[in-house]
Amino acid sequence: MSNAGCSLLDTSSLETADLRSLFHRANVLRSEFERLGSLPSRDPLCTERLIALLFFEPSTRTRLSFEIAAARLGIRTVVLESTANSSMSKGETRVDTLLNVLAMRPDALVIRYGIDEDLNRVLPSLKIPVISGGTASLAHPSQGLLDAMTIEREFGSAEGKKVLFIGDLRHSRVFASNYDVLIKLGAEIGVCGPDFLKPETQQFPKIKNFSEIDEAVRWADVACALRIQFERLSIETERSIDREVFHTQYGITLARLKKMSAHAIVMHPGPIHHGVEMESTVLQDARSRVMEQVTNGVFLRAALLERAFSVQ
Ligand code: NCD
Repeated sequence: MSNAGCSLLDTSSLETADLRSLFHRANVLRSEFERLGSLPSRDPLCTERLIALLFFEPSTRTRLSFEIAAARLGIRTVVLESTANSSMSKGETRVDTLLNVLAMRPDALVIRYGIDEDLNRVLPSLKIPVISGGTASLAHPSQGLLDAMTIEREFGSAEGKKVLFIGDLRHSRVFASNYDVLIKLGAEIGVCGPDFLKPETQQFPKIKNFSEIDEAVRWADVACALRIQFERLSIETERSIDREVFHTQYGITLARLKKMSAHAIVMHPGPIHHGVEMESTVLQDARSRVMEQVTNGVFLRAALLERAFSVQ
């Protein structure tokens, strides 16, 4: 039996109704946890399950929040992180590593990896649910979902909301997944950043392009700053970026916050490069929802894990 139906390698298969039901469940879990400090309504199908988390790229929030979500649901986890502490340091491929982990019979998989055509080919045919924890520059479904959930909690609905992404749009899997989810929810998407970090317009046809950040933040209900993905740039491109100049031209600063409308909020998926895409003090500002995103991430991922096991 294939479990492709409950796998989540990107958000393309999710319809608006699926998004709403995931947010609803995540909100129920969050309020239950806030009331009781535990999740008694958790899906009994999760108990005694075991998931393997394979993180072939670094992670803090995504990995830990999947682990915490799993623990709150009574799901056990095993984690293989980084290539340095595994047989990949001896030359084993990622696909061979994956096949060996699968031979140990976990019930589901969460995987983060960079460019890897072999993994791209193998993952969709797995017999157990597999959730992407971030795929190269292509997709980061759980982040796109938790960001949209944060926007919906703030405004009631993302429909008609103007969501601005600033910085490295070209290499950001966070932007790619947010775009897909937010367009389905009826939001408008704006982008602002240097030309060489702008997204491919044919891939993201419905974006409003801003060349000037002050005009962009005035337009936005939500401003989401994105880190420059230095690890995905060539050494020459990386060297050509002056972080101070970038901050002056595209950084979210307190001065720019003041230009936003009164109800507007600021987001960032983390990790933050302070003084580059965001001024440190913005994090403490009442408009920042950065930690709110992190909290929502746990409950959204819990809803995804429940979905993975309940659809089978
Ligand atoms: C992002 C990622 O890994 O894509 N972080 C995250 O998962 N919260 C963003 C980034 O690395 O810039």
